[in-house]
Order: sequence, then C-alpha cells, then structure tokens
Amino acid sequence: MVAYVDKKFSSACLVVLLFFVASSYARFSTMVTKDEIHTICTKQDINSSLCFEVLKATPEIGRLDLSDLAKFLLNYQAQNISDTLKQFKLSGGYTRDIESKYSVCIEEYEDALENRDYALKYLAAKDYDGLNTMVSATMTDMFTCTDDLSTMKPIPQLFVTKSNVISDLSNIIFVILECFLREKKKLCNSRDL
Ligand SMILES: *[C@@H]1O[C@H](CO)[C@@H](O)[C@H](O)[C@H]1NC(C)=O
Ligand SMILES: *[C@@H]1O[C@H](CO)[C@@H](O)[C@H](O)[C@H]1NC(C)=O
Repeated sequence: MVAYVDKKFSSACLVVLLFFVASSYARFSTMVTKDEIHTICTKQDINSSLCFEVLKATPEIGRLDLSDLAKFLLNYQAQNISDTLKQFKLSGGYTRDIESKYSVCIEEYEDALENRDYALKYLAAKDYDGLNTMVSATMTDMFTCTDDLSTMKPIPQLFVTKSNVISDLSNIIFVILECFLREKKKLCNSRDL
C-alpha cells in the first residue's frame, strides 16, 4: 500500500515536472533574444542607433516573441505617425475645407495610419505577403511626403527627419518579417521591394 501510494505520488510529480520543463521550453524558445535583436539591428540598411534605442527602451521587450515584437513596432510607429500628423495639421493651418501647405503629407500620413490596422490583422493571420505590402506602403507614404517637403523653401527639416525615422521603423519591421517570421527567407537580405 505504501509502495503503491509512493509510486502514484512520484509519477504525479513526474507529470508535473515534465509539464514545467515543457512549458518553460515553449516559453524560452520563442522569446526574442539579445542575439536576435543584435542581428536585426545590425542588418544592412537598418538604422542601428534607432533600432537599439527603440528595442532597448522598454523592459517588456524581453517578454515578447518575434511576432509580438513586430506588433510592438507597428504600434510604436503608429504613435509617431499620429503625433507627427497632428503637428502637420497644426503647422499648416489645416481646416477641413482649406488646403494645407502640408496637404500631401497629411494625406500620406493618414494613409500610413490606416496601414497599421491592416498590418496588425495580417500579422495575426500570419499573412506575411499582406504584411509586407502594408509595411512597404508606409515606406512609400513617407517617401512621397519627404519628396513633397523637399520642394519647399525652406525645407521643413524637422518633418523630413521625423518621416525618415518612421521609414526607418518600417525597415526594422521588414527585417523581422522577412528574416524571422517568414519560413522562406528569400527577401531577408534584399531591399528590392
Ligand atoms: C538614425 O535615426 C536617428 C534617430 O534616432 C537619426 O537621428 C539619424 O539621423 C538616423 N541615421 C541615419 C543614417 O539615417
Ligand atoms: C516616436 O515615439 C517615441 C515614443 O513615443 C518618441 O520617444 C520619439 O521621439 C518619437 N519619434 C518621432 C520621430 O516622432
């Protein structure tokens, strides 16, 4: 009887132990590692200083997997887009009916902000082609905006810088997508969008 209880007890312990081992493996194997962040931030065409700054900024980064990290960056970027959009509207004398000096950028930024919602849906559905399209679209939006800004005299450098930062964030998301999330790494080292 005693032996029976012991055996039952120890196999219960074993099951519990295995459960913890398995779940900790599941957990640790998917968290973003420092090495992965280093790999992402030192890829060609990545603004390393921005990348390390953004990906070190918060303690919760260590608790994210790569998909969460892409989500974090999409939301971070959307915050920058939304803040800068407000500044464009304030600086350009924007009202509903009057053309703003920044109307091209305002339109592109509004489009970029909408891309975030689609991008998050595609990410959740693991539709990586869809996600690629949205990330690329935001880069194009920023390019169209800075192109317009560069025709102004004087060039509003602050807005050019902010748009470049937003575009740099797209590049980071692009690397996470093409070098980590996707199984086929065809576009990992290619900037041919
Ligand atoms: C990288 O991003 C920072 C903003 O964090 C910016 O000041 C700098 O000019 C960028 N570097 C390049 C090479 O674009
Ligand atoms: C982007 O957002 C972060 C955090 O909200 C902020 O620290 C940073 O200055 C913003 N950058 C731009 C270009 O708006």
